[in-house]
Amino acid sequence: MFKRTIFLMSMLIAVYGCGGSGGGGGDDQDTTAPTVSSTSPEDTATGVPVNSNVIATFSETMSSSSISETTFYVRTGGSNISGSISYGGTFATFDPMSTLQAFKGYTATVTTGVKDSNGNALASNHSWGFITGSSSSPTYSFATDVQPIFDSNCIVCHISLGQAAFLPLTNDVSYSNLVNKPSTYTSGGTLVIPGNSTDSILYKRISGASVGAQMPKGGQALSPTEQNTIKTWIDEGALNN
Ligand code: HEC
Repeated sequence: MFKRTIFLMSMLIAVYGCGGSGGGGGDDQDTTAPTVSSTSPEDTATGVPVNSNVIATFSETMSSSSISETTFYVRTGGSNISGSISYGGTFATFDPMSTLQAFKGYTATVTTGVKDSNGNALASNHSWGFITGSSSSPTYSFATDVQPIFDSNCIVCHISLGQAAFLPLTNDVSYSNLVNKPSTYTSGGTLVIPGNSTDSILYKRISGASVGAQMPKGGQALSPTEQNTIKTWIDEGALNN
């Protein structure tokens, strides 16, 4: 018993002694090369929506400064497409500047220039390809989704001879009275700017932004769903669809 205790103690001293004086070993240094563990779209995917981002997910945390347009790019027909690159968590995102073209092949590549947070580079370039589908169709139709909101909530006033006869929103004239038309009450404002709900007076009025009374005037605000329908319709280009 006594002997064994002495033995254990000397073992402990040996172990600690070694650990204390050593230190230069560096066994815990990460020398494993990172890999691309998944991609979006997946390799060989078809029918990819034209508004997709291209994403590479890595096996570990990467050095964000190593991820740039020279180390992560997307090409079609032999040339790079423009886009912005961001990195967060373990994935890098390529957000194309313009919508991708329909029914077209694209190749994405992450090069050996990308490194993990310990400076280990990808072992070899990783490329994957995909083919887009048709151009995305709008979520909402002006005639069947937006106009009914005006019919139930607005035309009581926004009709010729109504309280807001300056801006009729009846179905024969609403589209042409709104899209790219100057505002009467907000100087310099435009009622509907296709693709930009934030600056469109119509959306400001229904969402309660400070440009005069919230519409419907004196009544209950439109539901979040109705507001979102109008917002999305504007942001998708305010089509007369
Ligand atoms: C009770 C009557 C009434 C109702 C209901 C009403 N409005 Fe109005 N609206 C007005 C009046 C009056 C004005 C102008 C005076 C003002 O801004 O308060 C106006 C102004 C506006 C403007 C600003 C136009 C400009 O040129 O600046 C927009 C946009 C608008 N309404 C949209 C709507 C929409 C969309 C609805 C339905 C969701 C609606 N309104 C419901 C009475 C109404």
